[in-house]
Amino acid sequence: MKKIAVITTGGDCPGLNAAIRAVVRTSIYHQVEVVGVIRGYEGLIDGNFMPLYSNSVSNILQRGGTILKTARSERFKTKEGRQNAAEHLRANGVEGIVLIGGDGSFRGINTFLAEHSFPVIGIPKTIDNDIFGTDYAIGYDTALNTVVQAVDKIRDTADSHDRLFFVEVMGRDAGMIAILSGIGSGAEAILIPETTTRVDQIVGILNRGWERKKTSMIVIVAEGDDSGGAYKIAEEVKSRFQQYDTRVSVLGHMQRGGSPTCFDRVLASRFGVAAVEELIKGANGVMVGLINNQITLTSFETVVSTQKQFPLDLMRVAEVLSL
Ligand code: F6P
Repeated sequence: MKKIAVITTGGDCPGLNAAIRAVVRTSIYHQVEVVGVIRGYEGLIDGNFMPLYSNSVSNILQRGGTILKTARSERFKTKEGRQNAAEHLRANGVEGIVLIGGDGSFRGINTFLAEHSFPVIGIPKTIDNDIFGTDYAIGYDTALNTVVQAVDKIRDTADSHDRLFFVEVMGRDAGMIAILSGIGSGAEAILIPETTTRVDQIVGILNRGWERKKTSMIVIVAEGDDSGGAYKIAEEVKSRFQQYDTRVSVLGHMQRGGSPTCFDRVLASRFGVAAVEELIKGANGVMVGLINNQITLTSFETVVSTQKQFPLDLMRVAEVLSL
């Protein structure tokens, strides 16, 4: 293999630059040329490539975002878009791709691979950590730390004013951010899409806290929770529980930015090295992952068709400790 492309697709997250750096440096180590694709699948369709050298990735390990930019592409969902992408790859002499993406991107590449024979290896990234085939995706650990720091600050003001806060965190389909950040910040209740939210249960927990004279209360709400989000559930709870002044805080996209934690930097570095070396060895149509601290390979087919198991036992940990 003489030349590979590296691409970041879908929503960004901290640690993408660390992964790009690892892919570029590992390729150069193995005397393989690298090009970066700009703006995800959009850049692939338009042939927007740039050569990357060792210096191109200096001092990016610690930076959030992605130097290659990213996009959610509607055009890659069309046959014509995927055809254009294949033509640009061949015209540029690219012989393999390292795709740093999430569930949606892997679904897209799977369709591409059914039409075009091309070596592709994936690296999982998403702050939601809901990708099957890896215990951790790049960006999750940093997002958790961002949320915990934000909730600690909210706790300070909540405590000063004896208030109840509903804090909405990201997780369109998954409660992985909510559950770990909830435990890590000592939340009184955690609402996730994987379980059915019951207002009476939340009110029960809040009343218990009020009886034992808690000076602040935090409810973490995953954005995809069936209650409809923090504003909606706060209104419902307020109509049945007025002991505390109530506020809502939606953390939003701050969760996707910032300097990656050491954990994410190391994870991204391990994934980058493994992805390039496996690609050179002939791996195709698979995603690298980390399971029990070992690098693994799982086919895109399995990744996109299997639901990652949610650690429901952690809900009990949160419940026991929120007394
Ligand atoms: O998939 C990651 C994620 O952060 C979700 O938790 C969130 O719902 C979504 O991205 C937001 O995406 P966008 O930036 O397109 O609004």
